[in-house]
Amino acid sequence: MPTITINTKPFDDQKPGTSGLRKKVTHFQQAHYLENFVQSIFDSIGDFKGKTLVLGGDGRYYNQDAIQIILKMAAANGFTKVFVGQNGILSTPAVSVIIRKKQTFGGIILSASHNPGGPDEDFGIKYNTDNGGPAPEKITDAIYARSKEIAHYLTLDTDTDINLSQLATHELNGMTIEIIDSVSDYALLMNELFDFTAIKDMIANGFTLCFDAMHAVTGPYATEILENQLGSPKGSVINGIPLEDFGGGHPDPNLVHAQHLAELMFSEQSPDFGAASDGDGDRNMIVGNNIFVTPSDSLAILAANADQVPAYKGKVIGIARSMPTSQASDNVAKKLGIDSYETPTGWKFFGNLMDADKVTLCGEESFGTGSNHIREKDGLWAVLSWLNILASRKESVSDIVHEHWQEYGRNYYSRHDYEAIETDKANHVMSGLRDKVKTLTGTQLGTLTVSYSDDFSYTDPIDNSISDQQGIRIGFSNGSRIVFRLSGTGTSGATLRIYYESYETDSEQLNEETQQPLKELIEQSLIVSDLQSLTGRTEPTVIT
Ligand code: G1P
Ligand code: ZN
Repeated sequence: MPTITINTKPFDDQKPGTSGLRKKVTHFQQAHYLENFVQSIFDSIGDFKGKTLVLGGDGRYYNQDAIQIILKMAAANGFTKVFVGQNGILSTPAVSVIIRKKQTFGGIILSASHNPGGPDEDFGIKYNTDNGGPAPEKITDAIYARSKEIAHYLTLDTDTDINLSQLATHELNGMTIEIIDSVSDYALLMNELFDFTAIKDMIANGFTLCFDAMHAVTGPYATEILENQLGSPKGSVINGIPLEDFGGGHPDPNLVHAQHLAELMFSEQSPDFGAASDGDGDRNMIVGNNIFVTPSDSLAILAANADQVPAYKGKVIGIARSMPTSQASDNVAKKLGIDSYETPTGWKFFGNLMDADKVTLCGEESFGTGSNHIREKDGLWAVLSWLNILASRKESVSDIVHEHWQEYGRNYYSRHDYEAIETDKANHVMSGLRDKVKTLTGTQLGTLTVSYSDDFSYTDPIDNSISDQQGIRIGFSNGSRIVFRLSGTGTSGATLRIYYESYETDSEQLNEETQQPLKELIEQSLIVSDLQSLTGRTEPTVIT
């Protein structure tokens, strides 16, 4: 079957964000659009002749069409082999596991993460390198530059598709395609990291759980691990069948979008443990009976209890968190006498630190937690970490969280999102803040004294690359913080995120409410940013 060269011309809007390229499905369906981006990837990643690729996605609408397009292009471009998840399904963490285990050249993940799916919703594509992590900026920049000048791409002159539904091996123009089980490599690694026997015993002794897969990619993974291997009764995993439109939902594991789970956990019928994961399986939400565990606290608690988990006992060498994530994990690192790192938002910054053996655990406030077992955040890994700690400590989620606050103090935390603001107006808010922060240090905002204010800039300690303008930080003398940044992953207009954090060490003062202790910070953030007059917005669209 002949390789053909298709003439094309660049599109002007292909700048990949921190998590690859995300657009509406209809945008991807434009003639040559996906092809241009895929060829731009292949032209930017170095010499892959004779090499292997991993390919799969979260099962959203257009996943299988895109896989067929990419397979033909990979064959025409000279890859030797591609591993594809059965039915096109591979979670983001599973791709990372498979790249590392099979030592492939890289992998392509088809997902728009937690964004809705369906013919009128979002699609996305991301390239991961041979360490299993998202491509570093120098590669994504090269892909973008290439996409601006692309004039042709290579594919095969055939309309015949590969059957993705059966575990089998195919040949396509000299390239081998192996359709692999989507779950087994991942499940095997989880078995090595965690004490499955202890978790199994806990479940056999009556511990109950509910995992909401939100009709997204983790359904098959959670069913195999939690139900089949750990013995949780059938039905413990809900919404476990991946659907192209995620059942019409928004596969984002937070109290708003996983509302059913949230209600269950705060009801009389609550199981002992609840969790949810997002579209592509890298995010997690942890809930106990009557208690929601913030992702920032979850990272801190996993770090403080790492000795309860076989693979991490005595092995945690450092902890990294993204800048807007609360400082709770810093307090744990301090006590453990290990290093802590504050990085810009986005998982790729953790990869360098992990490759250089500087950190073991890392996390983001946006429901992302993970470790050096792979180079992506990992939703089910976080769930299994919690289950392992619960099995070992034999206490409830609530007791573990409260004891943590007693010991380390509590970082009250909340994020307010203002979604789909007109881009100009959002930029205006940020440029105003950027000017103001130069003179805020030492001044008062209400009763609060500003101890520092800046636009966060990060110098990577491994490769010395500098990332500027990563968000406005206003820190106060009592340990509180306000952070402002624009989302890099939205697909319509701009999303402004404001993050609030206050710190309380006096256990007598610990408050069950979260918004109340942050009230003054919230008020001051609106004043200092002029948000309401510049955008017309009076309320955030999502509070987490
Ligand atoms: C969001 C999260 C960020 C995460 C990214 C990819 O990015 O805030 O922590 O790394 O999704 O999952 P944002 O939209 O804020 O740029
Ligand atoms: Zn995701």
